[in-house]
Amino acid sequence: MNRNAISLFSSSGIGDLGLHANGINTVIACELLPDRMDLFRSNNPDTKCFCGDIWELEDEIVRYYRENYGDSPFVILATPPCQGMSPNGMGKMLSDYRKGLRPKFDERNRLIIPAIHIIKKLQPMWVIFENVSNMGNTLIYDENDELINIIDYIHRELGPGYVGEPKVIDCADYGVPEHRVRLLTVLSRSAYAKEYFRIYKTFLPEPTNSADGNLFTKPWITLREAIGNLPELRAVAGQNVDPHNPLHKVPLLDKKKLWWLDNTPEGNTAFNNQCVNPDCLFQGNRTHGATHDEEGINRFNADTPLFCERCGALLPRPYVEDKKTGEKRIMKGFVSAYKRMLWDEPASTLTQNFQYACSDNKVHPSQTRVLSLWEAIVLQTIADYPFVFSVNGKPVKDGLIRDTIGESVPPRVIDLLCQNILSIKEKE
Ligand SMILES: C[S@@+](CC[C@H](N)C(=O)[O-])C[C@H]1O[C@@H](n2cnc3c(N)ncnc32)[C@H](O)[C@@H]1O
Repeated sequence: MNRNAISLFSSSGIGDLGLHANGINTVIACELLPDRMDLFRSNNPDTKCFCGDIWELEDEIVRYYRENYGDSPFVILATPPCQGMSPNGMGKMLSDYRKGLRPKFDERNRLIIPAIHIIKKLQPMWVIFENVSNMGNTLIYDENDELINIIDYIHRELGPGYVGEPKVIDCADYGVPEHRVRLLTVLSRSAYAKEYFRIYKTFLPEPTNSADGNLFTKPWITLREAIGNLPELRAVAGQNVDPHNPLHKVPLLDKKKLWWLDNTPEGNTAFNNQCVNPDCLFQGNRTHGATHDEEGINRFNADTPLFCERCGALLPRPYVEDKKTGEKRIMKGFVSAYKRMLWDEPASTLTQNFQYACSDNKVHPSQTRVLSLWEAIVLQTIADYPFVFSVNGKPVKDGLIRDTIGESVPPRVIDLLCQNILSIKEKE
């Protein structure tokens, strides 16, 4: 059997690194955005790259594969975008549909359809879908304009010839120093695999790590272990870049934010900072929080004090200032904003927003800054595989690096999955 892979929605090919580590070659990649495709091509000069909309390219991809390789590929890795897969509104969508109304939906969720067309035509031995855990609850309109759950659609279209089920995993359980909850749906049509699935009910490997470790797993890899030895940075000019590693750099923060974060302890949010007036130092000011309103929607508290409840001094908490009157008010935001991570835990999920201190749990555990690009590369396990963030010898833009990391599959997860897949025959 060949070891050819087709990577659909490949982005710059981060997840593909886990295939390549197992001798599985991405012979075709498809990606909409030219800058991501260029970065993919730069790292994989022998791959046939289809840059554009998969709806328009699906026939060409099938034709190219058949003309050049003949037999079925070993694996198709399909990682469609996840922005459209929100948990909100699925119940309403279904109820409107049952009433004969046409509910609103995100067209991006239907990108699974051209991927399934390609899979049905090329019949790979293995199929790997990766997405956010909500993929399992997502509804789409199929080719006949009928509303169907996306996983039911996959099973219906691929039929009993393929076995496998979706499973939610936290990548931290597979040695990634980051909590990243994802849905992996692995399917196979191989006879060996079917027998394996009958016994084990999944193709995913056993977790390698767990919160505290046990006889079978090591403890989660923490931020301290993963990035604790990197040079210190601070989000001010002259201290925000490591002169020896241009990727170990962070965006600057203004004076106010520096003050808030300088006073924020590890694991806490700047919204809970206490009095720093040396004559008072009151530590009992009310902290920030959120409550569910009558409709069950989570709303942050608006009455969190911004001035010390004992001495009246301004607290180093996030605030906004009225331009005309100069009046200061506590900023609108949840307790996860301006929040430091914990040294002895894996990082929080890296999103495309990891450069914003106001985004969820994005602040370094002890230094006044967010994570650097290099730290994100390490935490996403990209640094463990051969990959360069440059095209034609020129470094790519920081934004492309952040987007690529934030949307990627940690290669270690795909690597361990492929090791398991390839070992199935031996286990049999
Ligand atoms: C979740 S990311 C894939 C991440 C990738 N597997 C990795 O590990 O780096 C999804 C990708 O699908 C691409 N995409 C979105 N719409 C597309 C379309 N219509 N055709 C092809 N690719 C598309 C996005 O630009 C994005 O790069």
